[in-house]
Amino acid sequence: MDTRPLFLANWKMNLVEAEVTSFLTRFIPLAPPSTDRAVAVAPSFPSLRTASILLEKTGLEVAAQDLCHEERGAFTGGVSAAMLVAVGCRYVLVGHSDRRQIWAEDDELIQRKMRAATDQGLLPVLCVGESAGQRQQGRTAEVVEKQVRAALSGIPLDEENPLALAYEPVWAIGTGDGASPEQAEEVHRQIRELLQEIYPGRASALRILYGGSVTADTAADLMAQPDINGLLVGTASLEPDSFAAICRCPLGSGPP
Ligand code: PGA
Repeated sequence: MDTRPLFLANWKMNLVEAEVTSFLTRFIPLAPPSTDRAVAVAPSFPSLRTASILLEKTGLEVAAQDLCHEERGAFTGGVSAAMLVAVGCRYVLVGHSDRRQIWAEDDELIQRKMRAATDQGLLPVLCVGESAGQRQQGRTAEVVEKQVRAALSGIPLDEENPLALAYEPVWAIGTGDGASPEQAEEVHRQIRELLQEIYPGRASALRILYGGSVTADTAADLMAQPDINGLLVGTASLEPDSFAAICRCPLGSGPP
């Protein structure tokens, strides 16, 4: 099972194909060796193949930002897991808060996307997190638990392509106001305990990423927390030097 800490760039709806090419051309020589950590970028669908070709034999990997919950058929605009595998994707984000909020994705749809990904051997990164209001009401643990349980319901753990999670508090995404390492660790520990219950004996090896306003200045302190096993980076991943600095941060103690 791949337990290397994972650094994942979520480019969202930024960077056209030519910009992806120039980003990666600059980033490849700056990226850390993939021996003790995994690094992947998630461009938008039209640039996935270009990214895969450029990253071939570099040890760096490609992720998609979303997928369709069905295998094939009349789903205009949909992109299936098999299509992603065919263009060289290894990971796919599932249930990002943008998708939950703007496209009204609910827990049931997200569970189906998890299944669609794992059926094809794609490694899903399930995103969960509470809103500012839910945190203020003291409902963080309850909200995250519900999201995790619903999305993982009936999803087997594939040892070769183990799913990962990303805790992304909605209030921390794109705001410049990330969770403190202690705030993040508290929720990561809770998610780890839940995973222990869902996948007994195997939860310690599963990666739980933190996402939300991560920068090169905050990366090392976050990674020093015992239950933080990677970072999902939006804004600060749009510039090669800044994402490389994050990917090169000192690693913490890793999974307990
Ligand atoms: P951010 O985005 O780093 O800009 O907060 C993170 C994400 O949405 O995945």
